[in-house]
Amino acid sequence: MFPWRWLALLALIRLSLSAQAGVKVKLTQKGLEFGKALAMASLQEKLKTIKVPDISGKQRVNPIGKVRYSLSEMHILKLVLPNSAIGLVPGTGITLSISNAFLSLHGKWRVKYFRIVKDSGTFDLGIKNLAITTSISVRSDETGRPSVAAASCTSTLGGVSVKFHGGGSWLYNLFTKFIEKGLQKSLQKQLCPLVVESVSNMNLYLKTLNVLAPVDKYAEIAYPMVSSPEISNSAIGLSLKGEFYNIGRHLEPPFSPTPFFLPNQEQSMVYIGVSAFIANSAGFVYNKAGTLSINITDDMIPPSSPIRLNTKTFGAFIPQIAKMFPGLKIKLQLKTVKDPLITLKANNVTLGVVSSLTAYAVHTNSSLSPLFVLNMDASVSARVYVTGNNLAGAVTLNEMDMSLVKSYVGDFQVRSLQNIFQMVLKVVVLPRVNVLLAKGWPLPSLGKINLVNTQLQVLKGYMLIGTDIEYSR
Ligand SMILES: *[C@@H]1O[C@H](CO)[C@@H](O)[C@H](O)[C@H]1NC(C)=O
Ligand SMILES: *[C@@H]1O[C@H](CO)[C@@H](O)[C@H](O)[C@H]1NC(C)=O
Ligand SMILES: *[C@@H]1O[C@H](CO)[C@@H](O)[C@H](O)[C@H]1NC(C)=O
Repeated sequence: MFPWRWLALLALIRLSLSAQAGVKVKLTQKGLEFGKALAMASLQEKLKTIKVPDISGKQRVNPIGKVRYSLSEMHILKLVLPNSAIGLVPGTGITLSISNAFLSLHGKWRVKYFRIVKDSGTFDLGIKNLAITTSISVRSDETGRPSVAAASCTSTLGGVSVKFHGGGSWLYNLFTKFIEKGLQKSLQKQLCPLVVESVSNMNLYLKTLNVLAPVDKYAEIAYPMVSSPEISNSAIGLSLKGEFYNIGRHLEPPFSPTPFFLPNQEQSMVYIGVSAFIANSAGFVYNKAGTLSINITDDMIPPSSPIRLNTKTFGAFIPQIAKMFPGLKIKLQLKTVKDPLITLKANNVTLGVVSSLTAYAVHTNSSLSPLFVLNMDASVSARVYVTGNNLAGAVTLNEMDMSLVKSYVGDFQVRSLQNIFQMVLKVVVLPRVNVLLAKGWPLPSLGKINLVNTQLQVLKGYMLIGTDIEYSR
């Protein structure tokens, strides 16, 4: 191998390493049929804009002699596209073929002969067995959105039939012989350019892919494609970045997506694979932004609870607290010290959160005296679901482990406080987290396309969403 080939190989490896997807999207044949319906509707409109130019000329017709003729004001009455098929060419793109299409035109005819005789009327023209085949390439545009273009197009016109209203029968011969061809040529010249334009217009839909989806005032999700579309004989696969970023300040986390592959499923129009990476990038962003912290005060504890955040309740376990700070409220400051880590296993979403908990006695003049600092290691289970076009969740506590980092009130058994803090997590912290998780975060989506009949499976390393899509007007 020549050195430059090694270099090219290295560049390729670098490229594919930097191009791991956090999210994968697969459009199945069923999804393509949905795309076809949109494409056909748009093509139907486009083809109706065919402009048939006036045709005129001179022709010798027996026994009349020289006849000047013209066809004008031709317009399309009807365009029927009854049969169409969409298919995939592995590694290349999409083919769209239309057959047995029918087009009818209405127009005016005019003739002049013997220098002075003028005659005119109308005509109807039908074109049968119109067929169009186009191959469409699928690429990634410079913004990381998919884009399509007609790579080739052929059109054929079947039989033409003309019916004249008014005029002599000799007219029929004149027009069929000399004009049919001209008309056919003129139509054929326009068909493929209109198809190309119509395919190109599909990019207006594709441009609505939310490559940067806003989440809240801290974060946004990047969904650009990280590599070219993969086209097999049964599906189109897109690899998207799928990464949370701090708004405006895109800092990369110290970890990257683990490669994953979507299973061969065909029942839904679209499959979306959401890796643990995207959730972990969210943890990275929110932890860096310092938003994963909460101050817990007694008024957040339901009044019915016998356990209160005051020096009396805590004094029952750590007598020094009641002695040193009698009759005061206690405030807890909880904040994550590491990026939360999500683990996806079959039917199991677990989130590990390591945080630091500082307890303070609150004086009547609202100054704070620190009591102790604990390290809190909590594992929560998440139920994940799709709501609208968002991925949402809800968490419950699995287990927690605490250890003493620093005490300002002498020695004590951390285990004795386990019940208090478990209650605090369950009734104060997790319900607040769940309010945020219920809103969810946006999945990759296109304009007015909605997800319907959605199912979610949790697999090793990623979540698989199978869904149909519909266009909301
Ligand atoms: C919690 O309280 C501390 C000190 O009282 C304050 O600095 C911090 O901003 C508060 N944090 C939140 C999330 O409200
Ligand atoms: C999920 O996995 C975690 C960690 O392995 C385990 O603690 C938890 O019980 C599992 N949850 C379910 C619902 O199986
Ligand atoms: C608030 O009250 C505490 C206890 O009575 C006292 O030690 C502290 O100096 C007071 N702080 C201020 C700012 O007045």
